[in-house]
Amino acid sequence: MKKLMAANWKMYKTAGEARTTAASLAALAAEALPDDREVLVFPPFTALSSVGDALRHAPGFSVGGQDVYPAAEGAFTGEISPAMLLDCGCGWVLTGHSERRHVIGETDELVGRKTAFSLTAGLKVVLCIGETIEEREAGRLAEVLERQMATGLAGVKADAVPDAIAVAYEPVWAIGTGKVAGPPEIIDAHAKVRQLLVSRFGEAGRAVRILYGGSVKPENAREIIALDNVDGVLVGGASLQADSFSRIILA
Ligand code: 13P
Repeated sequence: MKKLMAANWKMYKTAGEARTTAASLAALAAEALPDDREVLVFPPFTALSSVGDALRHAPGFSVGGQDVYPAAEGAFTGEISPAMLLDCGCGWVLTGHSERRHVIGETDELVGRKTAFSLTAGLKVVLCIGETIEEREAGRLAEVLERQMATGLAGVKADAVPDAIAVAYEPVWAIGTGKVAGPPEIIDAHAKVRQLLVSRFGEAGRAVRILYGGSVKPENAREIIALDNVDGVLVGGASLQADSFSRIILA
């Protein structure tokens, strides 16, 4: 199973800035990319085409959208469809990122519809899940993961598994805070996610990649990626500079 090394650029970079970063990334990492690594970049919508151009000839690299609306087309002002993402060269989409859940107010149910619709439309999906600090301190980790997995994967058909779906465990309290979850916390949460995948999809659930996200840096990436059931990372802040993200990719 290849490790999936993903960059979420959130609401950073104009198209030109994104192209420059993507081109440097390709120059730094594409040549040296080991066979067991795959790289995925989620730029803002306005930079999808420029990043796609910059990475077109970089083997092992792909591009994805940070969000999507679960309809083919229609009167949904401000939204973007799976076909539009595919048209910009995207192979992937993120669903359920914690900033969409907690800042924009997306429900579990909407995340589930986005996930299922995108898969049917031919995109691969990274479904993001994770608990807040209040939920963790109240001992509700297992319950939150169970609920987000059940609703997030509600309409997912068995044939999407394992290749077209990955799950990113991103504890909300570790995102952008510099507070990385420790190995015991990561191992415990990822084991819970693995168990939920296996109970939902049977043996195929063992081959679904589970990514860790939350303050991943060049300094801690190697340790994190080596933990049980960690099949990749989803990186925010430390992915914005080509040099820093390429050190994570090659960690
Ligand atoms: P940071 O790496 O900045 O903590 O962000 C993580 C994240 O939200 C990736 O999707």
